[in-house]
Amino acid sequence: KIIVLDFGSQYNQLIVRRVRELGVYSELVSHEISLEKIKSDKTIKGIILSGGPHSVYEENSFSIDKTIFELDIPVLGICYGMQLMASLLGGTVTKSDKKEYGLTKIDIIDSSLTKELPKSFNVWMSHDDSVVKVPKDFKTTAKSSLTQTVMMEHINKPLYGIQYHVEVNHTEYGKDILSHFIDKCDVKRTWSMKTFIKEETKKIKETIKEDKVILGLSGGVDSSVVAALLNHAIKAQLTCIFVDHGLLRKDEAKSVKEVFENEFKMNLVVVDAKERFLTKLKGITDPETKRKIIGTEFIRVFEEETKKLEDAKFLAQGTLYTDIIESGTKHAETIKSHHNVGGLPKDIKFKLIEPLNTLFKDEVRQLGKELGLSDEIVQRQPFPGPGLGIRILGDITEEKITIVQESDYILREEIKRYQQDSKIWQYFTVLTPIKTVGVKGDKRAYENVLAIRAVTSVDGMTAAFAHIPYEILEVISTRIINEVRGVGRVVYDITSKPPGTIEWE
Ligand code: XMP
Repeated sequence: KIIVLDFGSQYNQLIVRRVRELGVYSELVSHEISLEKIKSDKTIKGIILSGGPHSVYEENSFSIDKTIFELDIPVLGICYGMQLMASLLGGTVTKSDKKEYGLTKIDIIDSSLTKELPKSFNVWMSHDDSVVKVPKDFKTTAKSSLTQTVMMEHINKPLYGIQYHVEVNHTEYGKDILSHFIDKCDVKRTWSMKTFIKEETKKIKETIKEDKVILGLSGGVDSSVVAALLNHAIKAQLTCIFVDHGLLRKDEAKSVKEVFENEFKMNLVVVDAKERFLTKLKGITDPETKRKIIGTEFIRVFEEETKKLEDAKFLAQGTLYTDIIESGTKHAETIKSHHNVGGLPKDIKFKLIEPLNTLFKDEVRQLGKELGLSDEIVQRQPFPGPGLGIRILGDITEEKITIVQESDYILREEIKRYQQDSKIWQYFTVLTPIKTVGVKGDKRAYENVLAIRAVTSVDGMTAAFAHIPYEILEVISTRIINEVRGVGRVVYDITSKPPGTIEWE
């Protein structure tokens, strides 16, 4: 594998993904990792030093033990990583008068990482500091009009520096350059979903042995893929629990049963807890209280069900790699708060297994496809743990749930029919407690306002309202008014996040 030492760049995960795309397993590790640890792990065949927001000459800036350059493992420093390599090995880094941001043309002098590539191409720059003197026995291998060293390498050791961001799409030939670096490392390009399944199956079998595993299935992408993977590895030892809190989308419970019970023939326990949730939620209007009730009740139901499966030792979870690095490494800039309803009690008696915890979301989707899950499941839009409970403003009743379920169903049908689904990250309807006047069949109507929310986003942290063509919105609005009883007016939410959140509550 090739490890990426994290110095806090926003792009550090992207480097990992690029290396994996090139067929080599890669991981992001804290730059605080000890040299001993690197030395003792014989699977590490290459090291990449990521970029970062600091300057090497600042006090307390992130650093590493410079003997890392003497391990005979190829090292590539990117941006801050290159500056750190230069300064630790005796070169000079200073703040430049002229900053380089964005697309910049570079000229190759003579670099072993750009073989067969043009002598001049555009790259993505983002730096204030520059290497003004390369260390002893290094040579400058590329330059730009503003920066004398945009690439450097050691004359006979496998040490390389690149000032620009080779991992981003805007950099021309970025992948080829990374690929040339991988060629310098003693690795085979065997990482793929097929090998992942094989290796992970072996690992799961070794961990679980004869024991039993429980999995909380939500119908979302991650838990569905874990289910398919465990089913592949240890079929009969797995039991999935699906809690239907009655706040799911239309036909959700039915389709989960269809896929996992009928098609995959898995042990599935569907708990119909609708009454129980509705009773607890009766008359509650405060959003946070609703969330808390749904979250707590969910855990209770789950616990009660797991108690019935006495001989299970393991609990599987669909934790992803991003969940781990977001809460694990201290250096990345964006931290996401996880508010999953599946958040389990701390005193849980099970041992946890998290077989997806080395994968990114798109890899999880690929894995799901490889294991036979449909696009419908692996491309599913995110759905909040508290479900439709936070899409009904005010108190929750059975009637209101039906309104949201039916209108959401129409929205989904039309978005799919007009092939908008791949363009929109998340789309749903929200029922407001506001009543407005209208005319329906010559009669005065006084019914609720329903909002359509549709956003584009990459990770849910920020979002823009989706520019759905008016013609499609018109079809959706007409259908909802005609087909869903209790809706008198449909509005479209044109708020971005920030300042608005994606959900209304
Ligand atoms: P907001 O509304 O905070 O939502 O902009 C960002 C993303 O998170 C989802 N979301 C949740 N997911 N439990 C979850 O598992 C929750 O309590 C929850 N609240 C919001 C939301 O659907 C969006 O994708």
